[in-house]
Amino acid sequence: MRRERLKVVAGEEVGPYTLVRIERGGLDPGAPGQFFMLEAPGRLLPRPMSLCLAPRGELAFLIDPIGPGTRALCAMEPGDHLQVLGPLGNGFRLELDRPLLVGGGIGVAPLPHLSEALKQPPAVLGFRSEWHAQAAELVPNAQTCVEPTLVTQLIPEGMDVLACGPEPMLEAVRAVAPDAQLAWEAPMACGYGACYGCAVEIDGELKRLCVEGPVLCAA
Ligand SMILES: Cc1cc2nc3c(=O)[nH]c(=O)nc-3n(C[C@H](O)[C@H](O)[C@H](O)COP(=O)(O)OP(=O)(O)OC[C@H]3O[C@@H](n4cnc5c(N)ncnc54)[C@H](O)[C@@H]3O)c2cc1C
Ligand code: FES
Repeated sequence: MRRERLKVVAGEEVGPYTLVRIERGGLDPGAPGQFFMLEAPGRLLPRPMSLCLAPRGELAFLIDPIGPGTRALCAMEPGDHLQVLGPLGNGFRLELDRPLLVGGGIGVAPLPHLSEALKQPPAVLGFRSEWHAQAAELVPNAQTCVEPTLVTQLIPEGMDVLACGPEPMLEAVRAVAPDAQLAWEAPMACGYGACYGCAVEIDGELKRLCVEGPVLCAA
């Protein structure tokens, strides 16, 4: 883990999301499913973001502008600078026989990097609208559905599922794929175990998601 001040290369619209590309500097991209704390200029608290892509010399993050922090990150211009800390947390386990990537909404964010590491396995992705589904173009070999069809309806039996998405989707994935690896979310202030802001109760146990997750085994 390392902290650096890095330069924004570009911000590209992908449906309602923005793919924010920044110079990599001396940071290691880490393992798929790990995350970085991104601090937009003029904002006090950084925000956790999964690494989406790691093209040569860059780190890229797919960001959904849902509040002040994410809107400030999406509004950055090429040449702006931001503080970046990472890589943080535990990513996905990659030694699998029949990987299937499962994503919902902005949960698609870590899947392009994961797909590359696993040599482009099949993926199933669910979105709220065709506009949101434009993010599917970032994931190779993806079958996409839009509500009212749910992504869990596209999961065949016998696959090693790696999933990221909203909590109700992860619960539904866990019901059909009890051994799935699931990337969870919680609001995070520090990202490295110091503030306990990300403690969540999973199966009756309190876990600091930034240290023990964000990827946890469903079983
Ligand atoms: C490990 C990890 C990886 C993430 N990766 C991505 C990513 O790649 N792309 C992306 O767009 N977002 C990602 N997120 C979510 C992102 O960090 C939050 O959306 C962001 O912090 C919201 O900040 P804000 O200031 O824009 O909105 P806020 O004003 O802080 O929040 C807006 C609303 O969202 C809720 N909220 C905020 N953060 C979270 C959260 N983490 N989980 C659930 N609800 C939340 C708030 O309670 C509030 O209702 C990730 C979160 C985690 C924990
Ligand atoms: S975010 Fe501070 S302990 Fe997890």
